[in-house]
Order: sequence, then C-alpha cells, then structure tokens
Amino acid sequence: MIKTLWMFGLLAGLLVQPTFADERADAQDRQDRFIDELLEKMTVDEKISQLRLVSVGPEHPKETLIADIRQGKVGGIFNTVTRPDIRLLQDQVKESRLKIPLFFAYDVTHGHRTAFPISLGLASSWDLEAIGRSGRISALEASADGLDMTFSPMIDVTREPRWGRASEGFGEDPYLTARIAEVLVKAYQGDSLRDPHSIMAVFKHFALYGATEGGRDYNTVDMSAQRMFQDYMPPYKAAVDAGAGAVMTSLSALNGMPGTANSWLLRDVLRQQWGFDGLVVSDHGAVLELMRHGVAADPAAATQMSINAGTDMNMNDDAYLHELKALFDSGKVPMAVLDAACRNVLVTKYRLGLFDDPYLRAGVVADDPADRNAESRLHRADARDIARRSMVLLKNADSVLPLKKSGTLAVIGPLADSQNDIIGSWSAASLPNQAVTVLRGVTEAMGDRGRVLHAKGSNLSNDPLIQQFINAYEVVSPLDPRSPEQMIDEAVAIARQADVVVAVVGEARGMADESGSRASLQIPDAQQALIAALEATGKPLVLVLLNGRPLALGKEHEQADAMLEAWFPGTEGGHAIADVLFGDYNPSGKLPMTFPRTVGQVPLYYNHLNSGRPFRPENRGKYTSNYFDVEHGPMYPFGYGLSYTDFEVSPIRLSSKTLSSGGRIEAQVTVRNMGSRAGETVVQLYLQDKVASISRSVQELKGFRKIALQPGESRDVTFDVGIDALKFFNAALDFQAEPGVFKIMVGLDSVDVRSDEFTLE
Ligand code: NOJ
Repeated sequence: MIKTLWMFGLLAGLLVQPTFADERADAQDRQDRFIDELLEKMTVDEKISQLRLVSVGPEHPKETLIADIRQGKVGGIFNTVTRPDIRLLQDQVKESRLKIPLFFAYDVTHGHRTAFPISLGLASSWDLEAIGRSGRISALEASADGLDMTFSPMIDVTREPRWGRASEGFGEDPYLTARIAEVLVKAYQGDSLRDPHSIMAVFKHFALYGATEGGRDYNTVDMSAQRMFQDYMPPYKAAVDAGAGAVMTSLSALNGMPGTANSWLLRDVLRQQWGFDGLVVSDHGAVLELMRHGVAADPAAATQMSINAGTDMNMNDDAYLHELKALFDSGKVPMAVLDAACRNVLVTKYRLGLFDDPYLRAGVVADDPADRNAESRLHRADARDIARRSMVLLKNADSVLPLKKSGTLAVIGPLADSQNDIIGSWSAASLPNQAVTVLRGVTEAMGDRGRVLHAKGSNLSNDPLIQQFINAYEVVSPLDPRSPEQMIDEAVAIARQADVVVAVVGEARGMADESGSRASLQIPDAQQALIAALEATGKPLVLVLLNGRPLALGKEHEQADAMLEAWFPGTEGGHAIADVLFGDYNPSGKLPMTFPRTVGQVPLYYNHLNSGRPFRPENRGKYTSNYFDVEHGPMYPFGYGLSYTDFEVSPIRLSSKTLSSGGRIEAQVTVRNMGSRAGETVVQLYLQDKVASISRSVQELKGFRKIALQPGESRDVTFDVGIDALKFFNAALDFQAEPGVFKIMVGLDSVDVRSDEFTLE
C-alpha cells in the first residue's frame, strides 16, 4: 500500500513538476519571442549597426563613437577595459531609439590583471585543474572590470615553431588542445552566462590559422580534408560542444578561401555539422582584407561574401556599416541573411544577460575599485602555483638542480630582470611593473642565507633587424649602450665570483606574438655569445629559458648543465622560477610541442605518418626518410619533461587483447616514484592503428593523467579504451573505426613508452 502511494506520488510529481527539459524549452521560447519582437521593430539600418564591432582608437575616436552609439550605430566594443569607460559608452545607448545594450570584449588570453603563463606554458602543465583555475580567475578579473566577452581561447593546433602565435595556442596535439578548449570555455562561461562573473568565450581562429605555411603569420593554408578533421578540427569541435558562445574567423585562407568568406567552414561545418548556434565575428579588419586576398574586388564584394558566408559581425573595418545597406537594397544580401546575423548578435546579448541589465558586469560607480591596479585585485598565489606547474625541466646533469639556498649565485642575462618580458605577449590588462622578475624571485628566496649577484650580460640581440622589431611601437627593451664585449666582460667577472651561474635567456615577449614569425629558432646571437662566455668560466651553468615557441637548443644542451623551459610565466614568474630552481616545487611540466634540433627539420611533430621508408637508426645510409646532415628526430620530443625524482612505469596490463565494437578494454600501468623527493608526472596514453584503409599516424595521444607520488610510492593508472578512441576520418570522411590490430603505448613522454597490442574485432 505504502509502495503504491509512493509510486503514485512520484508519478503525480513527475506530471506536475516541470522537468529540466521543459524549463529549457520555456527559456528558449522566451528568448525567441523577445528577439522576434525586437527584430520586428528594427529598421534595416539598425540591424546593420548591430553587426559593427569596433574599438576606441585612432580609427574610432571616443567622441565619434559616442555619437554613433547614440544613433544606435554600434553593436559591440572591444579594447575598452575599465568600468568607468565601459559605463560611459553603455550610458550612450539610452539615447538611441531601441536602447539595445552594447557588449564589451577584450583579449583576455592568459589572465587579465594577473598574468598567468602564456597558453603554451599552460598547456605544458597538462594540468586541467590549474588551467581551468587560470580561466576562472581571468573571468572573475575581466568581469570585475566590466567585460562581457574574451577573444579566447586560441585553440589553433600548430606544428610550426616559427609561428609567433604558437605562444598563444596549446601546441601541436589535437587531443590535448581539445581538452584544454573544453576546460577554458567552461571556466570562462561558468554555470551561466547570465552570471555577472561569467564572460563569453570566443574561440579562435576558425579555422586552421596555426597551419600557416612556413609559420609565416597570415600566410596561406592548403590541406587535405582528412588531415584537417583528424589533426586540426578537434579543438574547435570540442569548444562548440562545450557551449562556447562565439567564434572568431581566421585571417588566413584555407584551400584558397579566406576564413571570413568561407561558407563551407562557417555554414556547412560549424553550423550544420557541429550545430553551433552562437555568434561568428570576423578577425580585425578581415573583411576588407578579402580584397588583398584577391577574392573580392571592392569593399562591397568583400562585405557581400563575408556576410553571405556566415560572418555575423565585422571587427573594426566598418565594411558592413558602409556597404550592407546598398547590398541589401539590391538584393545581393537577402533579408534572411541580415536577420540571421543580427539575431546572432541579439541572442549573444540576451545570453549574456545584458537586456535585463546592461550594467550586469560594469556595475555602479559606488562599487568601482578605488585603484583598478590595486594589489588586492591580483591573484598572486594562484599565479605562482600555476606558473610553476607550467615549467619543463629539459636537462639536469649531475643533479645540478635544485640549487642550495646558500653560497653565491650569479643571475645573469638580458631577461633576468625584465618585468616587461616575463608577463608574455597579449598580456591584456596586466602591468609589467607588478611582475616579479627572476632576479627578484631568486633574491627573495635566497634571503640572507647567501648572495645573489647580477649582470645583464648582453642585449637581447645585436641584430639591428631584431632590435628594431622588438621596439617597433614603443621602446620596451632599451638598448644598453655598452659594447657587447663590455657587457660580457662584466658578466664573466660576476660569474667568476659565484658558485653557480643562472643565465636567463631566450626571446623578448614581442618575438613570440602576432606577426612575430621567425626564420631562425635559435637564441639570438648576443645571448649565444654570452652563454659561451659563461660556459667558459667553468662554473655550473643553469639556463632559464623565457620564450614563446620551441627553440633549437642543441648547442645550449651541450653548454649548460641544466635547462629549465619557463616560457613566459606571468606576473608571479620570478617567484615560480625560484620555487623550481631551489626545489620548493619539483618540476612536472611536459612539452606540448616538439623541440627540433634545427629549424630545417620543421615541421617536426610526433603524430606523423610513417612513410614507406621510415628512418632506421641501424641504417643511416640512403633511401630512408631523414635529413642526412643532422641527427634524426627531435631534440626533445612531445610530452617530454624531467623531474628531480625518477619515475618508473611498469609494463602495460590489458584487461583483454580484443575489443568488441561496443565494448571497452582497460590498460593499466603502475607508476612508481623511485627517488627521494615527492613529485608529479604526466602518464600519457598513445594509440596507433597499425593497418588501416588510409595511412595513420605512428602514434596519437588519447589520454593522460597527472599524478603526484611521494618517495617510494606507486600508483596504478588505468586508461579506459573504447571504440571512439580508435575512430578516424577515412577517405570518404566517415568518422569510423576499422577492425584490426592497434598498438597501445603508455609512458612519460611520446618516445619513452611501454607498448602492447590489442585487436578490434
Ligand atoms: C587580431 C588577432 O588576430 C585576434 O586574435 C585578436 O583577438 C584581435 N586582433 C583583437 O585584438
């Protein structure tokens, strides 16, 4: 009886209580009704105005923009970053006929007020919790400044260390980048975009910007559909599946068609295949650049192509504002296209909660911070923790690291005390003068237990081309007027007084940035000379590398006793580096990009095809696929990184040697910490489809786990392998798995692996 009543109650409850699905449908109905009604009221000019995304600057002075906003001629603003400025512009909306709120966007790419490590550094942590934390804090800080949206994450897979924007992405692997894409989208957007502490993610650059030919920025991309979908598209798809609200088009052309006018990418793939229902914004000036690409003869044609292809909003060049009306009047842009683009903008604002409260994030004057750069607004503890997780120990001969906090240390190099460089490129609203340099970090850690001496040792480069590039817009790295010899002499004299020399070398932050493509992957000349002179002192030499791309470090590997890849680690970089150097944190980062021996090997990436004549170490002669004038393979492989302790991985234990199409198998290893220090490492799972209908990569990352082990501790790590991990895009672009034998590899980098095989039935 009781049971029946209970069942009845449950049933009645189910009938009367709205389910989650009902609530969502209601919310969707409300949104649709609201947008439909608004669209009804809008004139064609007002619709066109919503597609305009502009920044205050020389092209759009504040006064002009204010007048435009009052006339309802602006849809969104970027590069305005303070609450008073944002409120001032949002206030103007009240004067417009329909009072449609503006949204405010910015490039919050690796932190906002607090700079976290550059994205390539974040990826090196392989620590999704830490990466997510950096994204969540970025959202908190950016929304506290009134921002609604970030042009991030940049999830362009790249195999090109020459490309300056490799620094902004998460490396060469589609799986790792896709996992990070999901985590960051969710971190930025929180549980609800209507939350004042959430910002919308605009993933970029759609598509394949990172495959730019020769690593030269803005250059072209030509690629098979199989490679595209297998190796480059997964992160974008993952961002869509994670609910990213918006996407930015790529400045580059794909198979001849620029991203901004590429209807196959924007309509067929993004919207139809993947079901994306958010906003598409062009990159900066990308619409008018269609003319230089040679696919549009004039601004009108460029506009027509872009909007018809599915680019909803036009960033900064005002092509839509000036051209769309005539195109609409002549029927070249149909009402349905204009309405759809405008709807996407309005939906974005609706999703961001701006129709309910245009000041949701900008807040009221009374709540403005007295000092927007106040220390209390920074997240230093998290920045330090995340930064030290991002560093990769490349070499540590004779355990020269960790250093003792005693004796005399010489901290030398043009980057040793550079606040400007340590925060990295695209550092949003982070201030260099709040950044901790390596010199400061090391000096503070040493305290009065020992001495820390310093010399600059060299300029960043003696090459006028590089010097000029670094200081092109403003003098960020003033040249030391002394001669290279004088600087080196001083550094050598200081080094001679020290027990250990720490040389902080690498790139200026501007060298690993947009349009920062390099034809060389070496540390610049002046610093090479400095390293050679320091080596010649015979003192133990530790190189701390600050840079935004894989470098060719063959020579430095010979010269230095230890090398720490610290990337550009952000506001707390100097403290984090000191933590690692002195062993207060045991390094755990792993490379997300292959480091070649020389630029001539590029592109060099771990998940390549085998070719019919793969290199064989036992036969360095003719007729295998290699370069005869350089040792084969990378300097440091994908997934590589040392620790102050040693980990041992057991052979793989497979739960079965066969996998049925609906089933799963478990692959387990035991990882043991063999050393005397606690440490973390990343256990990596790779698969290879040995024989398939098209040639498949020699290995593909399919899982990873970051684990912490005490000295002597061991832990079982189990990977679950199902059929999805075996699927690939075949010649007909069907995403499917083919029966046959698979090699399974588990290890602590992509080369040092245990392997076994199983069969898909
Ligand atoms: C151009 C860059 O390509 C893009 O990534 C960035 O978001 C925009 N400028 C806006 O700053």
